[in-house]
Amino acid sequence: MDTRPFLIVAIDGGAASGKSSTARALSARFHLLHVDTGSFYRAVTAVLLRRGIGATDAARIEAEVAGLRLSTHIAGRSAGMEINGEMIPDAEIRGAAVNGAVSHVAALPAVRAALLAYQRGQEGVARAGGFRGLVMEGRDIGSVIFPSAPCRFFLHADPAERARRRAQEGGQDAIAVRDQLDSSRKAAPLACPEGAVAVDTTHHNLEEVVALLSRPIAEHLGV
Ligand code: C5P
Repeated sequence: MDTRPFLIVAIDGGAASGKSSTARALSARFHLLHVDTGSFYRAVTAVLLRRGIGATDAARIEAEVAGLRLSTHIAGRSAGMEINGEMIPDAEIRGAAVNGAVSHVAALPAVRAALLAYQRGQEGVARAGGFRGLVMEGRDIGSVIFPSAPCRFFLHADPAERARRRAQEGGQDAIAVRDQLDSSRKAAPLACPEGAVAVDTTHHNLEEVVALLSRPIAEHLGV
């Protein structure tokens, strides 16, 4: 039996706050499965849009999400979500149509409920894959999905800096609008969970943020 510690790291924060780059770097450094839950909400949204369902058509969305079959495909150190056996292409889930619709879809309790067990199940996927833990990023990981994770972080940055980063990535994304929708919704709103470590990344580069988060992670893993 493997008796080494297994660690869950939760990283929450607004759009373009640095979550993904940080999570990817931590995943590589500590051999943790990287789970980007934003990509899950994006994939569900893409499938709904393909089926011609509007982002605010709650009744139809509720009926559709209940019937989606979700599975996991691991590529490298990252967990991708397949819907009915298909990985939705990155260009589609990161495109303008999904950017504009995803926060409306994610605000629906039925959608969040449909993804809850799947997200928690990533712990079993990581264990079975021989990872030393998982680093999961999103909006409600430290508050709803894994509230008792030993390492919970909340990244934030000035809106102007976040817009600059997203533009640098070449993305067309109204991040302020999404943040407003994500923070003001009733179901699992974007907020720093109680007890989480808040990190302002505005004046820090990726290396510095990764170094800061690495300390408690290394301590928990005993490395
Ligand atoms: O992380 P990313 O910006 O790709 O997430 C896209 C959208 O998915 C967010 O704006 C939010 O509406 C939703 N989301 C969420 N809960 C999560 C992760 C993402 O509601 N845990």
